[in-house]
Order: sequence, then C-alpha cells, then structure tokens
Amino acid sequence: MSNTPLAVDMSHITIRFPGVLANDDVNFTLAKGEIHALLGENGAGKSTLMNTLAGLQKPSAGSIKINGKQVAFNSPKDAIAAGIGMVHQHFMLVPTQTVTENILLGLDEPRFILNIRKYDQKVRDLADKYGLHVDPTAKIWQLSVGEQQRVEILKTLYRGANILIMDEPTAVLAPQEIEEFMQTLRSMVAQGKSIIFISHKLQEVAAIADRVTVLRKGKVTAEGQSMQGVTRRKLAQLMVGRDVVFAVEKGAADVGDIVLDVEGVSAENNKGVPALHDVSLKVRSGEILGIAGVSGNGQSELAEVITGLRPCSGTIRVNGTIVSNQPPSVAIQQGVAHIPEDRNHVGSAPNLTITENIIMKGYDQPPIGTGWQIDFDKATARAERLREQYAILAPSVTTLARKLSGGNLQKVILAREISTEPRLMVAVQPTRGLDV
Ligand SMILES: Nc1ncnc2c1ncn2[C@@H]1O[C@H](COP(=O)(O)OP(=O)(O)O)[C@@H](O)[C@H]1O
Ligand SMILES: [Mg+2]
Repeated sequence: MSNTPLAVDMSHITIRFPGVLANDDVNFTLAKGEIHALLGENGAGKSTLMNTLAGLQKPSAGSIKINGKQVAFNSPKDAIAAGIGMVHQHFMLVPTQTVTENILLGLDEPRFILNIRKYDQKVRDLADKYGLHVDPTAKIWQLSVGEQQRVEILKTLYRGANILIMDEPTAVLAPQEIEEFMQTLRSMVAQGKSIIFISHKLQEVAAIADRVTVLRKGKVTAEGQSMQGVTRRKLAQLMVGRDVVFAVEKGAADVGDIVLDVEGVSAENNKGVPALHDVSLKVRSGEILGIAGVSGNGQSELAEVITGLRPCSGTIRVNGTIVSNQPPSVAIQQGVAHIPEDRNHVGSAPNLTITENIIMKGYDQPPIGTGWQIDFDKATARAERLREQYAILAPSVTTLARKLSGGNLQKVILAREISTEPRLMVAVQPTRGLDV
C-alpha cells in the first residue's frame, strides 16, 4: 500500500431501524481511483450504508474518514462539501424544469439566472468531458430514464464530486445503454474520480469493478475482495448464502386465441416526435412477446397506447374490443394489467400505503368495495396475504410506498397486477430492481 490515504474509510458502521438491523458492524473502504462494487440482494443494506456516506442517515455506531480525515455529516450538504456525490435509485429531478435549471437547483450561484445560455454551455462542456450526452435545454419530462440518470450524474459532477456513489445505476438502463454507461465510469476514473458501484448483478460487478464488498442481511460477507481470482459462483454464494442455479428450463408454451391485436398503430412521444410508426403485432393467449430496443425507441409508448394512457392512430383490440384512444378503464375491464417503466410516478402512489396501492385498481369491486364504502379489514387482509406471498420486505402494510426499496416497490406493483388475474400483461422492464 502507498501512503495516499483512502478516499473513504467506513469502519464498524451499525444502523438500526425499528425492527431491522440494516447494517451490522460494516467495514467499507474505497481507494483513490478505483471502482469498488457493493454487492448484495434486495434489502441487504446497500442503500442504507451509502445514504450514511452521503449524509442522509446518521449511523447508530461507527466512524467515517474521508481522505484520511474523520468526518461527521449532519446533512447531504456536508457530504457534498467533502466531495461526495450520490446518484439515487429514485431520481430527484424537477420534471417541468430544464436540465441546466435542475443542475443549478439549490446552488448559491447564480442567484438570478440572467444568462442561462452561459450555464447551458458549462453543462454541455461537462457532459462532453465524460460522454454524458444530454441536451441542457430539454425539460426533464421530455427525457428518457437513461437521460435523466445522466442529468443526476452531471449534477454531482457540477458540484465538484470526486467520490461518486451510484445506487443500482444499471437498473434503469437497457442492455445496449449499459455498455455506454460502463465507458462513462471508466472515463470518470481515468480523470481521477473514485466510484462506488452498488449492484445486485454479478455479471456487471465482474465487468467493471476492481474490488467488491458483499453484504448479506446487513453483514459483510466479503470485505474489499480483489475481483481477480474470485468466481461468479463464489460471489453468488456470498450474496445469497447458498448455491445458485443459473439455468432455467423453459417448456414450450401452450398457445391459444388472439388476445392482443395491434393494427397500423402510430403515436408520438412526450416531445411530440413520432415514436411508433405503423406498428402491427398480435399476441395469443399463453404467449410471451418480447420487445427489444434501447430505451427511448418506442417501447414505453407502445405499452401506453395499449393501456389507454396515450392517444394513437390505428386500432388496438383486446379480446376483440377496441381499447385504443379509450380511457384506461376500458383496457382494465378487458383484463389488461400494466407494469410501467416508471414505478414511482405511474405505477404507484408514493404517499399512499402498501394496502392502498394494492387495492388501487379493485377498490370499487367486491369483496373490498361494497357499494359506497371500502371494507378496510378485507383490504388489509388482502395486502397482508400478498405481502407474505410476494415476500415484500416492509415493517407493515401501512408503510408508505415511498419508503420501500426499488425491488420491494416493484413487488407491490407485481402483486397488485398479477392478483387481478389479467388476461394480458404489459410489462416494461419488469425485472428492473429484482434479484437474479
Ligand atoms: N428509512 C427506513 N426505515 C425503516 N427501515 C428501512 C429504512 N430504509 C431501509 N430500511 C430497511 O433496511 C433494510 C435494508 O434496506 P436497503 O438499505 O434499502 O437495502 P438494499 O439497498 O440493499 O436493497 C431493509 O430491510 C429495509 O426495509
Ligand atoms: Mg437499495
């Protein structure tokens, strides 16, 4: 080891939540200029540990050194001042503002945005430097999820971060975008940044990390292991605590009648640019149709026209009934379930409880909806049953959706949609946030 101090040295960190020991005596170090992966299953305590480093969460015990100096963060502002930037699983951008406005948000300078063009240019220069291509003048709501992620990264770089924490960054990216993202990470390291890469995907960790720390149920099972000479199998074992089978046998499907019939459909995206051109496809019952493409190439728009969330030309029938350009209730009546790409805004209501999110689609039907009233005992019972069945990790069914980890929120949505026994399931990146 050289004499350069560690960029990050977290030692004996313990973090307790009511009923959960999220981090149990955790050690974690980050050397300057390395990519260190933090690997673990959903709920292992990865986000909690890094929220602490980002000043969002105070540890119950333990200490943190940055560049050899002891720190005690009282707020994210303190962490930013120490050069730490975190890109969260759930983005924190203002949809109606531009990229540049979001990047400047909360900064002292400029007090009055007199010459926004000057700042657009600064953002453009920074973006070019790291290959994070995004239009500084675009509004956030017009951007794909992958582009929004670049804005979050630019935001931390603009504030001078040299220690970057990326919480499950690839979860929102299509396979083709991931390679580009990995290049960005490498170019940031080449320019002197140090990176903590949080993931539950072994393959990605193997592809990018210099070292890896594995967490299982709040405890470290591998501390700062070099990636050289550690096998994927061994890592999987450390992660889940047992042997993992990677191959799944899949039998041939038993295919029936046409359920979904899309004919000559065209639609525009949020920017008013054509996103779907004359798309036709059929799906029969028992069939799984995969739609591939880089995010931003029409997949979400296709899902939205089928579920009645976006107008289009052409016709879409489910079980023979036209659902295109109809309210979403028409598609729901035909048994269409939707697992959207944007779980936080479209798929769930963050400020409602798990129970309320689960009954959201069926609250007006028996046994839960009884005329004018909602039977809350029955609703709670259903939520309890689904929480058990889908292993949703939460203190109780009255927990607010926004308090859940990405994977657990996804399980709430899956539970709700699958429990309606849908005839057609439209799933956009359904495995986002779930384990192997
Ligand atoms: N603010 C919180 N309040 C209560 N429990 C929490 C809170 N944040 C996380 N947890 C719990 O702590 C554990 C670790 O969660 P988290 O750090 O999000 O895991 P990971 O990021 O590895 O998926 C989970 O059981 C989670 O439910
Ligand atoms: Mg997490």
